[in-house]
Amino acid sequence: MNPHVSPEFRPIPFIDVAAQRHRLGARIDEAIARVTAHCQFILGPEVAVLEGELATFCGARHAISCASGTDALVLVLMAKGIGPGDAVICPSFTFCATAEVVALLGATPVFADVDEATFNIDPASLERAIAQARRLGLKPRAVIPVDLFGLPADHDAVAAIAAAEKLFILDDAAQSFGATYRGRPLGTFGLATATSFFPAKPLGCYGDGGAILTDDDELAALVTSLRVHGHNADKYDNVRIGLTGRLDTIQAAVLIEKLSIFRDEIVARNEAAARYSNALGNVAIVPRLPRGLTSVWAQYTIRLEPGRRDGLAAALKSEGIPTAIYYPKPLHQQEAYAHFPCADGGLAVSERLAHEVISLPMHGYLDEPTQDRIIDAVQRALSR
Ligand SMILES: Cc1ncc(COP(=O)(O)O)c(C=O)c1O
Repeated sequence: MNPHVSPEFRPIPFIDVAAQRHRLGARIDEAIARVTAHCQFILGPEVAVLEGELATFCGARHAISCASGTDALVLVLMAKGIGPGDAVICPSFTFCATAEVVALLGATPVFADVDEATFNIDPASLERAIAQARRLGLKPRAVIPVDLFGLPADHDAVAAIAAAEKLFILDDAAQSFGATYRGRPLGTFGLATATSFFPAKPLGCYGDGGAILTDDDELAALVTSLRVHGHNADKYDNVRIGLTGRLDTIQAAVLIEKLSIFRDEIVARNEAAARYSNALGNVAIVPRLPRGLTSVWAQYTIRLEPGRRDGLAAALKSEGIPTAIYYPKPLHQQEAYAHFPCADGGLAVSERLAHEVISLPMHGYLDEPTQDRIIDAVQRALSR
């Protein structure tokens, strides 16, 4: 910290990974040192320990760790044989990886709109996207609901549509491991769940990482084989085309330590979100939790009238307060994805949200004085 900068203007981190690092202290160093001592850098004992703890944490039968959230998604789609001619329905208002994995396998992502209050897939648009896929001669095989910004999607509605249409559900919980839907933790919805341990995620490691959660024994065996080049019982007996998709042992060691304080951090994130919402509801549209759902607040995202957020971002920046825009362009308007089909009726909500959303600093170490500084700056900027 620079002692010459007056406290009102000291830069605030968007996500305070250093504060968490400080709290964990020597435990993290010792965990990493244990790995550098035993030297089992690939699939060492910490990997299996972590997988057991992740499964217990969310109540899934299997947790299979892997190299990233993107690999978690692609491994499930590979295991299900998704390929050319198949359609997979995704929301457009999400990070690109949700649809990228579909296109990577030669299948067609078909974009659905989202609900403006939750930012998550709109069930009516999901139905229209399935119909659109069929009209185009594609075979709808799966839906990837995304639990955006830490908040679960409308899983009951998605499950009902998927069952009626015979689609499997791959839940993209990259941002939301630790959240619950009607008392049930994410990781237990649909055929499988993919999550990410990218450092900025609520449960992040010190590099890239991810996991697949599932109750399906056959799928668990397949993705375990696919993550290491499609091996059989013998690792040099390759029976399918796979990936180098493992989680490093050092990352597993880091995650074991982080998981031990994760519940505390979720509580702190929820307290910070509640303080923001109480203080900012008069100047912005603040996120509201639907009844029965809990969030892990990967992002705290407010909505402003179009044209107002650049001014807010600049005003906050001048006071050392960072903001972020997730996402400035929905996927169906991105150059790499614009040729893929969309649900009939268009994706007006995704397009509008891209101009209205702005995210404020959020993490489990946002102390009240720091948060008050942010709230005060937002209030001043938006009251002008
Ligand atoms: C919604 C969503 N899906 C997938 C991913 C991909 O995760 P990773 O960056 O670990 O590959 C991310 C992470 O950035 C994400 O936010």
